[in-house]
Amino acid sequence: MTIKKPKTSPRQLHHLRHLRPLALALAIATLAACGGGGGSSSAGPSGPGNSSISSLSGVAVDGYLQGATVFLDLNKNGLQDTGEPSALTSATGQYTLDYSQVSSAIEGLQIVVTGGVDTDTGNTFTGRLTARASKATQGQVVTPLTSLVDAIVAQGLAADVTAAQTLVATALGLTVADLGKDPVAALASTPAIYTQAVALQRAVQLLASLNANPGESSHKAQERMMKAIAKVVKSQESKVDVSQLVAALQVANTTGASQLATAVQNSVTTALESGGHDSAKAALKGLDQVRVRMENDFDENDSDHSDDLAQAAGKIDDEHGLTTSQPLTNLVTDDSDAGEIDAVQNLYQPGTVVAQPANTNGRLLASNCFQCHGTGGMGGFDAIRGDASEVRDYLTKPAGSDIMAAHAQGYTNAQLDAIIAYLQQ
Ligand code: HEC
Repeated sequence: MTIKKPKTSPRQLHHLRHLRPLALALAIATLAACGGGGGSSSAGPSGPGNSSISSLSGVAVDGYLQGATVFLDLNKNGLQDTGEPSALTSATGQYTLDYSQVSSAIEGLQIVVTGGVDTDTGNTFTGRLTARASKATQGQVVTPLTSLVDAIVAQGLAADVTAAQTLVATALGLTVADLGKDPVAALASTPAIYTQAVALQRAVQLLASLNANPGESSHKAQERMMKAIAKVVKSQESKVDVSQLVAALQVANTTGASQLATAVQNSVTTALESGGHDSAKAALKGLDQVRVRMENDFDENDSDHSDDLAQAAGKIDDEHGLTTSQPLTNLVTDDSDAGEIDAVQNLYQPGTVVAQPANTNGRLLASNCFQCHGTGGMGGFDAIRGDASEVRDYLTKPAGSDIMAAHAQGYTNAQLDAIIAYLQQ
């Protein structure tokens, strides 16, 4: 067994951090004089004494991550150490890192985000997001997509952050500007930023679970998987899907992750179109449940090791007695339609007790009306709740002339009165 050499401690940084402001200014001036900031242009009149710019702020998004830890990795070991600027995110993923005690340049350092709650799903966030601190210290978005850019930079696969962004943008059919946007805020204009980001994140987490080395932390495994995907991105010349990137990986157990990426991409796209962000959240909740099931059930030595999305979804459906409707199986198998998204959304609706109106005489008869007019007469193409008495107008029209006339004339007057009384409550 070999004994590893201890990692070099960030002595210089440590040193500088404890210097007094004047000495600090001198130290920075000295560093600058040494040409440390090669390529940097005119620094402008504001010197190091300006403390109002010593904070780095932005937003951490898979969905917005609430209560997540954000830190600036000064010593580049990937872990949070004492003295490194850190903060917790707000309910909308916002963070502000105070780096006034840091004497070195922060541009290019890694911003790391872990923990908290993914407000899209209400689930604990078990992922790890990163981004490179840029010169502009405000509005630093940290997402799965910036993590991918970071993984390219970390491996030296691109000359700089901009070149890495260009690689990712090309591979995912986005623009470089898109990669710096808050995916949730951009949902209305560019939903693809969100769909690509959430698909990538889920694929990385599943891959990491299925391929973690013995003793390897889940965050380390995720970092490794993101780096592997970064290598595939590097070789892309045109747009592909996250699922294709995953399928091209040189790692084991890519089947389920590739299927998952496809399912996320398809169902979240459909959900956003049919019901907006809320529907997308429900779809993600369902897909996360299936993913976690795959992670838990996975056993490399078992031929039935559940690296199969539909199989895992089917198990959950069966356990909930949903053997006929199979909402999760439907969600993950074909291109989901709006109805399938609704079915999943219903799964996660809190069990509400519907208060019944006082008079329920016409209720059963009125249920027939809802086949066309929407539940409770509220939705559908024509809301009939309240002005249901207009149904009597159809009693004098020829039944063959209008579907509603044919329908209304199937009831006795007493029955119609009961229906109307029920709907008018
Ligand atoms: C087979 C589908 C269908 C069913 C079932 C049905 N409707 Fe209708 N309803 C229609 C259609 C289509 C129209 C629009 C007809 C038109 O104006 O030509 C309509 C129109 C109406 C209107 C007029 C709405 C308005 O504000 O303009 C009322 C009121 C109404 N339906 C009540 C009822 C009631 C009460 C029932 C149950 C007894 C019922 N409908 C069941 C299809 C249906």
